[in-house]
Amino acid sequence: MQAKSLILLLVLVMCGTTFSFGKVNKKSAPWEKDEKMEKFVNDLLAKMTLEEKLGQLTLFSSSWDITGPITNNNYVEDVKKGKVGAIFNAYSADFTYRLQKENIENTRLGIPLLFGYDVIHGHWTTFPIPLAESCSWDLEWIEKSARIAAIEATSEGLHWTFAPMVDIARDPRWGRIAEGAGEDIYLGCEIAKARVNGFQGDDLSKNNTMLACAKHYAAYGVAQAGRDYSTVDISNRELWGTYMPPFKAALNAGVATFMTSFNELDGTPCTGNDYLLDDVLRKKWGFDGFVVTDYTSIMEMTEHGNVKDKKEAGEVAINAGVDMDMQSGIFNDYLPKSVEEGKVLESRIDQAVIQILKMKYRLGLFEDPFRYSNVKRAKKTLMKPEFIEASRELAKRSIVLLKNENQVLPLNKDIKKLALIGPYVKNRRDLVGTWSGAGKWEKAVTVYEGIEKAVSKNTEILYAEGSKLFGDDKSGFEKAIATAEKADAVVLLVGEPHDWSGEAASRTNLELPGVQPELVKEIVKTGKPVIMVMMNGRPLTIDWEAENVPAIVEAWHLGVQAGPAIADVLFGDYNPSAKLTVTFPRSVGQIPIYYNMKHTGRPMDPNQKFTSKYLDSPNTPLYPFGYGLSYTKFDYSNIQLDKTSMGVNGQITVKVTVTNSGKYDGEEVVQLYIQDLVGSVTRPVKELKHFEKLFIAKGESKVIEFKITAEDLAFYRKDMSYGVEAGDFKIFVGTNSVDVKEASFRLTQSSILPEK
Ligand code: GLC
Repeated sequence: MQAKSLILLLVLVMCGTTFSFGKVNKKSAPWEKDEKMEKFVNDLLAKMTLEEKLGQLTLFSSSWDITGPITNNNYVEDVKKGKVGAIFNAYSADFTYRLQKENIENTRLGIPLLFGYDVIHGHWTTFPIPLAESCSWDLEWIEKSARIAAIEATSEGLHWTFAPMVDIARDPRWGRIAEGAGEDIYLGCEIAKARVNGFQGDDLSKNNTMLACAKHYAAYGVAQAGRDYSTVDISNRELWGTYMPPFKAALNAGVATFMTSFNELDGTPCTGNDYLLDDVLRKKWGFDGFVVTDYTSIMEMTEHGNVKDKKEAGEVAINAGVDMDMQSGIFNDYLPKSVEEGKVLESRIDQAVIQILKMKYRLGLFEDPFRYSNVKRAKKTLMKPEFIEASRELAKRSIVLLKNENQVLPLNKDIKKLALIGPYVKNRRDLVGTWSGAGKWEKAVTVYEGIEKAVSKNTEILYAEGSKLFGDDKSGFEKAIATAEKADAVVLLVGEPHDWSGEAASRTNLELPGVQPELVKEIVKTGKPVIMVMMNGRPLTIDWEAENVPAIVEAWHLGVQAGPAIADVLFGDYNPSAKLTVTFPRSVGQIPIYYNMKHTGRPMDPNQKFTSKYLDSPNTPLYPFGYGLSYTKFDYSNIQLDKTSMGVNGQITVKVTVTNSGKYDGEEVVQLYIQDLVGSVTRPVKELKHFEKLFIAKGESKVIEFKITAEDLAFYRKDMSYGVEAGDFKIFVGTNSVDVKEASFRLTQSSILPEK
């Protein structure tokens, strides 16, 4: 052992931090066969005892970070006893080096540890929360964000991120809506692919690429009442039509791992769900990576009540298709007995071990277990100026302009007196949002600092905190009002604390927290031009504000460059281009509310009592999916189809002219939706099928072209076969899901189609 570890210790891998975006060539993608690897891992397996095998199926948290209930903290001892194959919640080149060395020197076979962590939206350089990034609709930047996160995280010894979270979410009461890509299936699939490609890069054997993890499999986002971990009970059609596609998109992109979700699905917890894990993931989809559970979710089956005890929970999980047990330690503790009793076959355990060993092999860890743990490389890599600049670029692209009455924005940099009021003016900690992991929030640039740098020397900045982010203390109101009264304009910086979204952060009331709504009202009463900038992790109900505040900017939690990015937009150095990927409800009472709903048999008619509507609210949302304003104006005209009917192998070209008729250059997200007017089952009123984000200079027009094929029309039909049905369709092209130009076409044939 000594000789081997000495050789390993001498191996130092210097690696550059080259970017490689765009089309990933998928070298060493998980599904590729590699005879040398197969032989290596099978020879190794043959040497392993059952206990050593179960150690490889065990993932324990270090004590560095807490992301769930504490159950085990003698992880170092467990590593040395060969009872652990992977560690999470710890990083740094030094720590991973030292723990890997303990593992290599103290275990019989010296199988390298895998180091995993929630690198969700950046590592040291925190990027906007995933929901914010999705509002950029900029797939290249979203991929860059994940790529940079991987470059930083791998320089700190990490091999595996528990991302992307690909759960479709339509309920803003659920705090984890912050972690995904919003409510839409098509966009969710595109962003899942971009994030997997970003994290895994073009070659898993490079030490600046890492395993990605499609989570939480499956349908975690439909937790009843928006309450985290709550029951999920949806139809098979809804599961396949809405919640499965982003997982399949991640798998098609070569995602290395899946994570099971906490929730039950149709009565069976996903962590013990053989339909999801075996019938679908392995047999139907041919997944060749490994499946890890969520945090203690094997043990939690005893709470769900589909098993009588932890031993049965372990048997159900491994037999359903789970490969690695996060944090419950149940495989180690109970499976030897289960194997003895014949309730679990050792061959099933061997399958799981092989999948995990193959990933370690693909990462190059058997050649050099220390190849990711290099202090010199970390020092050269972390928070490089270009990474910080990239964070600012994506942050400003993620900011949604919701309202801009009388062109209050952009502000003039020579403004005489500008009041910055609110709990987010000088707040640094909360800027990085939920799941910021190793994020260096202390290096985040506050909004105050960003604006101070942006304005001219003639500007006097006035400041008042006004209130805290939550609580009922209004003692700061008086000073805030007085400060506003002295100013030529007021920027009100309000929102949610970083931990009021994310995991275990469901809310029943979606207003701005605490006394912030009253602070807003008091400042608006001064009659000054007020711009409200929100920093939050979910849609909020801001009905009064939407009516009464002249300008509203949805800035989300933007990461370490929040301040400069907000200043870039407020002063017009960047013309906001983001579009909502989640619907903003008027009230919690409307939830769930999303754009691609069904027509119902009694669609809303304001003049008819017996139609689908409320007595006390419109059906329409406050802001719809795809909505976002610009400082300029984009006019849509001249939507043209090259034909008005096609067969199943045909293609229709849609052209539309978009003119920038305003005063500013800008980027526009041109969106194309399709409605299937009649189906063997009811169909949504419209579904996003294509989009293009493009720059159009002021006064310029561009013709945008989309190709429609049968694949855009496919769905799970009445018999659950995937395909298309002949009939009439509508096309909607526009600047959001409501303001659209219409056209129609016919599909002349029905057909089964291969699933994507
Ligand atoms: C948490 C989350 C999951 C995360 C895991 C490890 O409970 O549900 O998203 O990756 O535990 O931190």
